[in-house]
Amino acid sequence: MTRPDPSLDLRSRPGNSVPEPTVTGMFDSIAPVYDRMNTLMTAGLDGRWRRAAVAAANLSPGSVALDVACGTGKLTAALAVAVGPMGRVVGIDLSAGMLDEAYRAFGDLVQIEFRLGNALALPVPDDSFDAVTIAFGLRNLASFEDGFREMARVVRSGGRVVCLELTMPRPRWAGRFYWAAFRAIAPAVGTLFRKRDAYMYLPHSLDGFPEAKELAETMRRIGLRDVTVRRLGLGAVALHVGTVA
Ligand SMILES: C[S@@+](CC[C@H](N)C(=O)[O-])C[C@H]1O[C@@H](n2cnc3c(N)ncnc32)[C@H](O)[C@@H]1O
Repeated sequence: MTRPDPSLDLRSRPGNSVPEPTVTGMFDSIAPVYDRMNTLMTAGLDGRWRRAAVAAANLSPGSVALDVACGTGKLTAALAVAVGPMGRVVGIDLSAGMLDEAYRAFGDLVQIEFRLGNALALPVPDDSFDAVTIAFGLRNLASFEDGFREMARVVRSGGRVVCLELTMPRPRWAGRFYWAAFRAIAPAVGTLFRKRDAYMYLPHSLDGFPEAKELAETMRRIGLRDVTVRRLGLGAVALHVGTVA
């Protein structure tokens, strides 16, 4: 993979410029090591962030939820606990490799169904979920706005759209430091697992990703109301929540 242009990180872009088949191939290739690498790179904090996303989804026993870009299914499984055995959670992802891992880990939970599908054309009807989540998936989409529009489409009125995603810490100097560290650390950790090339993509996917405030504006623009942003992980992770009108 070619090195990203460092000048890109100050300009935000409307979507991921890496073609979908390349993104999918990359996630297929790292699927077997994804969870271990995640735990290493987040110092184990990812579980706490996912719990915050589940709480933000405002589910109760019997609810129906959708986890977009579900990957290996950790958030899907946490949602399944919140909705209980009488509820239902659908996890959708574009990578068959990531879904294989999800099936292996959580396929025996009766309330979970994993499906292959694209976040930008979700294979589910309008207004069919009480809440939809996306964790560390949005920045991979070819259009962030279309991603939110599609998630809002499938949630009933009054239901939640929850987005957990990396963001640039504030103030700007801290953001620059974080960005430089991420660029150095991600491929190094990738090397440990013999997936250096794939892990070059991770910092690249953050180049030009909109700031938290801008992402909140995108959510309002597509019609979500009561949009809130909470920073987690020393400001490096943002939890965006909006309600479908
Ligand atoms: C960084 S992983 C996050 C996985 C999981 N949500 C988590 O929290 O660990 C990003 C996931 O987004 C998926 N993805 C990327 N583009 C997608 C798209 N257009 N539609 C659905 N899933 C997509 C990838 O296959 C990958 O599993």
